[in-house]
Formats: sequence, C-alpha cells, structure tokens
Amino acid sequence: MSLSDRINETVASIYSRIKERPTIGVVLGTGLGGFVNQLDIELEIPYASIPHFPVSTVQGHDGKLIFGTLLGKPVLAMKGRFHYYEGYSMSEVTYPIRVMKELGIQSLLLSNASGGVNPEFKIGDIMVVHDHINLFPSNPLIGSNDNDLGSRFPDMSEPYDRGFIQIMERCAVDSGISIQKGVYAGVPGPCFETPAEYKYLRVIGADAVGMSTVPENIVARHAGMKVAALSVITDLGIEGKIEKISHEEVQQAAAQAEPKMAELVKLFFARL
Ligand code: HPA
Repeated sequence: MSLSDRINETVASIYSRIKERPTIGVVLGTGLGGFVNQLDIELEIPYASIPHFPVSTVQGHDGKLIFGTLLGKPVLAMKGRFHYYEGYSMSEVTYPIRVMKELGIQSLLLSNASGGVNPEFKIGDIMVVHDHINLFPSNPLIGSNDNDLGSRFPDMSEPYDRGFIQIMERCAVDSGISIQKGVYAGVPGPCFETPAEYKYLRVIGADAVGMSTVPENIVARHAGMKVAALSVITDLGIEGKIEKISHEEVQQAAAQAEPKMAELVKLFFARL
C-alpha cells in the first residue's frame, strides 16, 4: 500500500471520531507534556488504535493524539513522539506529521529538550529554533517521492517560519519570559555527546543539540506546513560546565521549565 493510501486510511479513521478539524498541531516533547492542561480536551486517541500508526515497542509508552480547543481554536496535540534511537525508521518517525498535514493542519509547533552548546546558555533556558543542522545518518525523504505530498528537492531556506519566530519573540517580551534563539543540531542519539562532540557541534554552528525535531521539520516543510520549534535547555555541553547527565535529569530540568513553555505556547497559539 502506498504512503498516501496509508495516510488516507489513517485520516479517514480519525475523521470518523472527531467533530472539529484541527488547524494547529503541536508535538509535545520532553518538557511540554503538561501543556495539555491548557486544552479543553474533546477526544484522546491512543496510537495503538490508529490504523498504520507506528507500533510502540517501548514499555509504559502512553502515546496518544489529543484533540481539543485552546481559546476556541481547534488544536491537535501529539503526546509522545517516535524517536529514531528507539529503532523506528525515518518514515515511521515522521508518519504522524504526514497525518497532521492531511488532517488540515497548516501550522505546526515542535518542542523538545536539548543540551546547550552556546556558552551564553543556562539550564532551564528556552530557545526558539531559528534553523537546524541535520546530523541524523539519514533523511526522511530518501526513497521514491510522491509529488502529491511534496517536491523531490524541497527548499529549506526557511525551515522555521520567520513570521512565527517574530510572533514567538513578541510573546516572550509581552509575558516577561526571556528566551534564547539559535540553531538546533539533530543527532541520532541515544548516547549523550562526548566533550569533543559538544565542542564540534559548537564549531559547526549549533547552539543546542537534541535527538528529535529535525526529521519532523523536514517532512513538515516537504508538505508545505509552517513550522515553529521551542527547545528547553536541560544540560550544558560547554567546556568547563559539562557534568554527568541522565535521562532523569533531563526530564527534571524540562519539567521545571514546563510552566514557562506552556505559557509561551498558549500566547503563541492565541496569536496565530
Ligand atoms: N544531547 C543530546 N540530546 C539531548 C541532550 C544532549 O545534551 N539533552 C537533552 N537532549
């Protein structure tokens, strides 16, 4: 079955369950899970009950699509994403983005936790992503291209929408939440970086590094969606400040920044 046939079946199954079609999508990464508390939730659909959605092999994985409204606007929140390091293929990692597009979503917000490599950054900072560097060993668009889904050689001169970045910066000023801006390097993981790797990432132009977002952005841009991304800095890959880190510490630092993230996202959606 072709990719677009699978997408159509997935979307038909979702349409049969929802009342209102979402126009805004958000991928809730580490540190933004609590954002769903801002939504008036209409329906939650576990990934396991959605045809053609990747099958989760990870224990305790509570992935679901959450349909609701925020200030009256219909929003789809994706709680739990598929990471490349879990063994999913690039097309599985990005399948939900294809589905979002077909559901009618034109504006997409991606969120994540990342390690800061810009020496000005502190743990708990929020970074608006201006650009990215794809350091994954692959690209989700490799393989035959369906011209109905997007172009064979998509332009990437504006991976993160300039208008969205401006709105986000204004939301930050108006709410008194200070934000950083920078370039996100996407790596496969699952190891955190060595000190030499963090140094390399800084040299090639990154401000932060994480294990998601880039494949999703590529597919969203291929599909013609406008994308914004926010990153919580949960640890530092800066010479002299590098400490042992664990996933638990990343989750903890992200959880602390969550109220600020949720507030920013709410303001941002209100202005879309
Ligand atoms: N490196 C890669 N991914 C991450 C990091 C990091 O330091 N922190 C959170 N996600």
